[in-house]
Amino acid sequence: MKSVQVKDDKGPAENLYIGEGPTPNPQNGQLLVKTEYFGLNRMDLLQRLGNYPLPPQAPKTLGVEFSGTIEKSESDKFAVGDKVFGLVYGGAYAEYVVAAEETLIKVPDDLSMEVAAGLPEVWFTGIQVLTTVGKFQKGDSVLFHAGASSVGIAVIQLAASLGASKIFTTVGSDEKCEFVKKLGNKFGVTVVPINYHNEDFKEVISKHYDASKGEGVNVIIDPVGQTYFVRNLEIAAKDARIVLMGAMSGPIVKGDVPIGLIIYKRLVVQGTTLRSRDLAYQEKLRDFFVSHVVPLILEGKIDTFVDKLFNFTTEDIVASHKYLESNKSMGKVIVKI
Ligand SMILES: NC(=O)c1ccc[n+]([C@@H]2O[C@H](COP(=O)([O-])OP(=O)(O)OC[C@H]3O[C@@H](n4cnc5c(N)ncnc54)[C@H](OP(=O)(O)O)[C@@H]3O)[C@@H](O)[C@H]2O)c1
Repeated sequence: MKSVQVKDDKGPAENLYIGEGPTPNPQNGQLLVKTEYFGLNRMDLLQRLGNYPLPPQAPKTLGVEFSGTIEKSESDKFAVGDKVFGLVYGGAYAEYVVAAEETLIKVPDDLSMEVAAGLPEVWFTGIQVLTTVGKFQKGDSVLFHAGASSVGIAVIQLAASLGASKIFTTVGSDEKCEFVKKLGNKFGVTVVPINYHNEDFKEVISKHYDASKGEGVNVIIDPVGQTYFVRNLEIAAKDARIVLMGAMSGPIVKGDVPIGLIIYKRLVVQGTTLRSRDLAYQEKLRDFFVSHVVPLILEGKIDTFVDKLFNFTTEDIVASHKYLESNKSMGKVIVKI
């Protein structure tokens, strides 16, 4: 089968090419899926550069989400011919992918295969960081950094659907501010966008709360890291949860870090990744996605955004990674096989 491979095992986008390799075989509880579309994720860029710690069960080929048709089934939960979408530890940038029954979903009639391919990674992640790790409760306020990222779009809408009191989000342009501002509308929740090139998120958010009374943001979810860590501590409410899920600005926090704030505000600071989680953990996220999110997507209350579609050619695969690296996207980048 054809799959995307990386020349020299790692390198810039130009090292990506489509090569030939053996078709994988499903084991007990697994399915062989003929891929129709796969979604790109920020993590794929890190993996291509050799900077992502892969879990041991991950195949070398890039790609963690896809949609397609079952070609071989070693599970009694899915049958040959079923249209499915799902999450895998790797291997989705290929004509065939082996998926586990725990993280697979049948595509509902009213959902397109193109949109479905880009849902699992960002929504399972969003559910994990907001609810499982972030311990979000109805009425909590939320801050998500990089709000127009694919995960950001999911987290903002998820928080709105679960009854957030207010959602703050940082983004890198006025166009992205306009885009994210609307994401709470269908649930009547205010989204406050902050263009980090013009405004300091700590100053903007401070105006909404009286810090002397222990007020601030209840759940802060941060894929940016280094440059935001101290300010996250400063605008967190008493008993807030700060979830670290990426380090796009760097993994080392320099200078004076006021750990007294963690102690006296009783903050919980926790890191997490979806890909390192076992199937039983991911299955629970899948089940919440199916019971809570999918119905809202089908009702049109949660919006899905495919920003750009590429073809399964070497030229397009290289272009798709360069496009994601440009930080221009507002939604998913998808490849059609
Ligand atoms: N821990 C996990 O389980 C997990 C799972 C999935 C994703 N993630 C992480 O979540 C983040 C978003 O992933 P995604 O696939 O949704 O990304 P995406 O759609 O590619 O969006 C990423 C956005 O982040 C912003 N950004 C990039 N570099 C930045 C920097 N140095 N400082 C501030 N903002 C920056 C850019 O938007 P602006 O123009 O607004 O700056 C960019 O468009 C990534 O860090 C990814 O690794 C973690």
